[in-house]
Amino acid sequence: LDKVLIFVFYQFIMNNISTDSTIFFTGKKAFILLKDYVVKTLSPDKIFIITDENAYKYCLKPFRKVFKYISEPEIILTPDGELNKNLECCQTLWWELAQKGATRKSLVINFGGGMICDIGGFVASTFKRGLPFINIPTTLLAQVDASIGGKNGIDFQGVKNLLGVFSWPDAILIHTPFIETQSEAQKKSGFAEMVKIGLCCDKSFWHQIEATSFDTITDWETIIKRAVSIKLQVVNADPYETGFRRVLNFGHTIGHAFEAYSMENDDNPLKHGEAVAMGMLCETWLSSKQSGLPEQDMHSIIEYLLRNFEYYHLNPDAGKRILEFAFHDKKNEAGNLQFTLLNSAGRASIGQIVTPSRVEECLKWYGTIA
Ligand SMILES: NC(=O)c1ccc[n+]([C@@H]2O[C@H](COP(=O)([O-])OP(=O)(O)OC[C@H]3O[C@@H](n4cnc5c(N)ncnc54)[C@H](O)[C@@H]3O)[C@@H](O)[C@H]2O)c1
Ligand SMILES: [Zn+2]
Repeated sequence: LDKVLIFVFYQFIMNNISTDSTIFFTGKKAFILLKDYVVKTLSPDKIFIITDENAYKYCLKPFRKVFKYISEPEIILTPDGELNKNLECCQTLWWELAQKGATRKSLVINFGGGMICDIGGFVASTFKRGLPFINIPTTLLAQVDASIGGKNGIDFQGVKNLLGVFSWPDAILIHTPFIETQSEAQKKSGFAEMVKIGLCCDKSFWHQIEATSFDTITDWETIIKRAVSIKLQVVNADPYETGFRRVLNFGHTIGHAFEAYSMENDDNPLKHGEAVAMGMLCETWLSSKQSGLPEQDMHSIIEYLLRNFEYYHLNPDAGKRILEFAFHDKKNEAGNLQFTLLNSAGRASIGQIVTPSRVEECLKWYGTIA
């Protein structure tokens, strides 16, 4: 707690558009630096903390003192989980902000996992045409991925992240001890995004991950810091995802389709990272078929994914629905299914067109591997 692990201040200017500045902190001093930043730089008239019951209970309550001396914040509790990352919940949040007197000088702090960062960022960015906001991620997934990069949004009509905006948090506070209260399954879901970051954009990080496994990692701080810095490099190079940044979507075309399918069909639906892990399995197979991924890399990636993540048994007649969801993917253009596929472990290519019959073939292969 006493260590300041990261203090990175960065500002990106692309095509003369400033995408705001973001500050990362970790450790006890980080809270003090955040307080200074809030008071001196943002000086809001009111602070609203959007959170859910678990983030409140496990992380916010024990740290309440720290927030008290920022100023007396209003806490807005919202129901947890992906099923609530929806328009109805946004309406409640917008209305709460309105009733509690939020102005354009107010600050929103999104305090929770990826669901809270996504919906809170969207609500803040659309309320009165946009309030400043800060992300304080409390899950591994949100610390390495969802809180960083300016993508905010909600699911709509069963389609993942169909509505959303690019909008950058003024600051992000990553306090790694928060993840200690997460269940193994939730933490593993975040680990899937770390595996993805290695596979799609950093060979040496992938080798570091490959040399260990989820169960044997003890030093989460170091590995989180590495994943965050790789993601930042990619985001800075292409903040609005006009091209290169799409490498981060590896595993997500089929992953999102599995996630949406599972939400529609299962009592206990797949977590985001669990679906992405299965998406990476399928897209690794596709990569060996059409983007030059060597067979040997394919086998070692598949073996690693099956060893670290639980296999999801897909109904034999699910293929049609999975394809329908895949066609909703935002990466698609002109009616084609566009994927990010691997050229090798650690390098990916965007805009890979895959035919629907190839996807069907892939899902058949998937059905045979466990
Ligand atoms: N915007 C992006 O760039 C981006 C990137 C990746 C994922 N995402 C999104 O992130 C979401 C998934 O995020 P997630 O996995 O964090 O899920 P989540 O936010 O739903 O959190 C999972 C569960 O953990 C609880 N929780 C939160 N912090 C906790 C803690 N410290 N201890 C115990 N429990 C805690 C939550 O209440 C919830 O029940 C998905 O909606 C996904 O689409 C967004
Ligand atoms: Zn993801």
